Amino acid sequence: MPRSELYSEMSVVEEEYSKRLAGLADETRNPAIKAVMLAVSTDSLKHSRLYRTLGELLSPSLPLIPEEQAERIAEEIKHHIETEAEMIRRVEELLKEEDLSRAERFILELILRDEKLHHAALRRIHEILVKRETLTESALWDMIWKDTAFHGAPG
Ligand SMILES: [Fe+2]
Ligand SMILES: [Fe+2]
Repeated sequence: MPRSELYSEMSVVEEEYSKRLAGLADETRNPAIKAVMLAVSTDSLKHSRLYRTLGELLSPSLPLIPEEQAERIAEEIKHHIETEAEMIRRVEELLKEEDLSRAERFILELILRDEKLHHAALRRIHEILVKRETLTESALWDMIWKDTAFHGAPG
């Protein structure tokens, strides 16, 4: 199967899976279980969009970002990188509390993993914008795989 077809098929699988899990979450009353189901559902929708993007990256005519726009976006992204760093500090602080329930700890750890990934992903995007790299030069692959492998590691 050509890779473009594979990506579009995987995008559809993720989207359908996401909807189905959201439906199941709707029937679930326990707030922690419901919230985690919805979080995985939202992530699957994100994966669906990322697979579609991977398909678009195979197209030979990718739009370039104009110089001034790249600078403005890079500048604005700095603010978001700082926000992510601040949220990481706050979650880490909360995780030191001794009276956390298991559900509380589980959800806080889930958020922390996401925040670390957001922080790393935005830093990578910032670097790409500053260096004027194109996103086809395997930068997106590096970003997704290296950061996911690192932050997704257990423990
Ligand atoms: Fe997924
Ligand atoms: Fe975040």
